[in-house]
Amino acid sequence: MQDSTHSRRGFFIAAINALGGLIAAAIAIPAAAYLLIRPKNAGDSGWSEVGDMSRLQVGKPEEALYERKRVDGWRKVTDKATVWLVKNGNHSVTAFNPACTHLGCAYHWDASAKEFICPCHASAFSIDGKVLAGPAPRPLDQYVTKIEDGKILIGSQVEAGSDAVGSSRG
Ligand code: FES
Repeated sequence: MQDSTHSRRGFFIAAINALGGLIAAAIAIPAAAYLLIRPKNAGDSGWSEVGDMSRLQVGKPEEALYERKRVDGWRKVTDKATVWLVKNGNHSVTAFNPACTHLGCAYHWDASAKEFICPCHASAFSIDGKVLAGPAPRPLDQYVTKIEDGKILIGSQVEAGSDAVGSSRG
């Protein structure tokens, strides 16, 4: 009698422990997956179409408005952004981040001076993004570019001087 009571109690304890383990796993596994597994495409640069090569003129920078796709934490976000495009030839384009590298003000192209001018603290940049004057500590930031069927696409931002920077052929 004593043995059967012990074995029954042992069975129920084991069953309760197993059930507790299952419940803990049912809660912990999805939570761990949510925290540890990044969303699909989180690591890619998310190419965005920003313009058409045929609408640009060599040596005449244009600011383009586009829909930027990016991953913010675990969310995929689309928002409006701008980029400065400089056509270097029929198959070559450079895309600049529109924020001044000093404190992030929006700069503009001065056609008469043939320079990008930042109104905040008078930094000036050449058409290829180099610092000509002012407190800006580095050249304009650029995006990786590619051209597909005449459409200009930009990817991730890269540091000026990197091999990935500058014009791409497509
Ligand atoms: S933010 Fe452009 S010069 Fe200061």
